[in-house]
Amino acid sequence: MSPRRPWPAGAVELLACPVCAAPLVAPDDAGLVCPAGHSFDRARQGHVTLLPPGHVAPSGDSAAMVADRVAFLAAGHYAGVTRALADAVVAGDDGPPGSLLDLGGGTGQHLAGVLDRLPGTVGVVLDSSRYAARRAAGAHPRALAVVGDAWARLPVRDAAVDRVLVVFAPRNGPETARVLRPGGRLVVVTPAADHLTELVGPLGLLRVDPDKARRLSATLEPHLRRVAATGHRERLELDRTAVTTLVGMGPHARHLGPGELAAAVAGLPERTPVTVSVDVTTWMPAG
Ligand SMILES: C[S@@+](CC[C@H](N)C(=O)[O-])C[C@H]1O[C@@H](n2cnc3c(N)ncnc32)[C@H](O)[C@@H]1O
Repeated sequence: MSPRRPWPAGAVELLACPVCAAPLVAPDDAGLVCPAGHSFDRARQGHVTLLPPGHVAPSGDSAAMVADRVAFLAAGHYAGVTRALADAVVAGDDGPPGSLLDLGGGTGQHLAGVLDRLPGTVGVVLDSSRYAARRAAGAHPRALAVVGDAWARLPVRDAAVDRVLVVFAPRNGPETARVLRPGGRLVVVTPAADHLTELVGPLGLLRVDPDKARRLSATLEPHLRRVAATGHRERLELDRTAVTTLVGMGPHARHLGPGELAAAVAGLPERTPVTVSVDVTTWMPAG
């Protein structure tokens, strides 16, 4: 993609300078600048890095993890998760949201699925992995991709965003509350206790922390309060290639050597039933 591809209309208006927090504007399609003259070049692939000078963000997902995520999501295996996320995003009687911010949004595929349901909506996907941001930059014509740190002050204007999305990614309660518009909401997707349960034993995967729901509340309260909770549960049938990409794209990848994973996957049947089970919770600023 050329850096001269236009910025998605309406998305730059959500962004703030990571140095001085003033609004960013786009003088042209090659970069962003704030009134104080802090400027940020757009990468060839289309994303922009918005980190304060000297700030070292966690590296995030590696190139190999991102390649596996692209393959697994493109095959549609998590389409049900995207649908459940989109259902929660559009729920409510206050009309469709105009803007979405996907924190730790990876390759932007979930955000793209939600944007497909919302023809007038723009989105920003923020991720600390430059490999993910490169993919996210091309994920959807109405999505803008940012390399940033979800744990730091977000490069987003105060009270600018209608929905913040967090899917299997870090949650920053105070910053989420700051960037949400009055009436705006956070939608969080987290793995439930039985997520991928059939693979945990045979492949030695990390178990979902049984205390995860309580820890989620502890990180978000007192900045946000929970206003809705749903879930999504389905059984997939995955072949060995799909199982390998599923494991490779997740946190398990850091704990298993490639040889170990290949040997364990070879011991699986040709097709393995795999439970996808997530909690989808919706939060509003507490104030
Ligand atoms: C399990 S992946 C989920 C990606 C995406 N939400 C999805 O479901 O396809 C977690 C993502 O969080 C990103 N990440 C980790 N730490 C981060 C941070 N401090 N700030 C922003 N992104 C971060 C990783 O690079 C990775 O893309």
